[in-house]
Amino acid sequence: MTDTAECAHTSPYVEKRCEPAALRFLFYPLETTMSFASVLVLNGPNLNLLGTREPAIYGSETLDDVARLCRDAGERLDLSIDFCQSNAEHQLIDWLHAARTKVDGIVINPAAYTHTSVAIADALTAIEKPVIEVHISNVHRREAFRHHSYVSAVADAIIVGCGTQGYVLALERMVTILKNRAAK
Ligand code: DQA
Repeated sequence: MTDTAECAHTSPYVEKRCEPAALRFLFYPLETTMSFASVLVLNGPNLNLLGTREPAIYGSETLDDVARLCRDAGERLDLSIDFCQSNAEHQLIDWLHAARTKVDGIVINPAAYTHTSVAIADALTAIEKPVIEVHISNVHRREAFRHHSYVSAVADAIIVGCGTQGYVLALERMVTILKNRAAK
């Protein structure tokens, strides 16, 4: 995703797919040519602290570990993965806008913006791609303010409480959604 090359400057959790396309081709020529589809995996605020943040709730894996899980799943499922994280709402929205013409689907853990952001829900609607919402914790077993999601109404699927495996499940489901769409 050329447009999200910018995210390399703002997030340490930007995977290879956010590199400029030309560089990507040099380093990952086979993947670039052979991927079945391209998925943006977007992470919201405070997820950069995974591993040290409330481990009783979110576990001990870091966001780097999650990125690795997604990359491995992407290789298995023949998906190219852009993995990004930002604490800033406007940055997440800008990446979604950039993804509009560049990716086939979005997996998003909007973190706390889940419960507050009409703007992120609007951006997800605007880009007209399949969306899967992921939460590491079971938000419905937690505080009442976490029970409402602005994103769920625009998501094709929601995965909660499966830990970091939820990202892998989301990528697997995304393949099914994309294949079903392609078959129509
Ligand atoms: C979260 C749940 C949100 O309520 C919370 O604000 C997060 C993480 C999850 O993955 O469980 O930051 O999205």
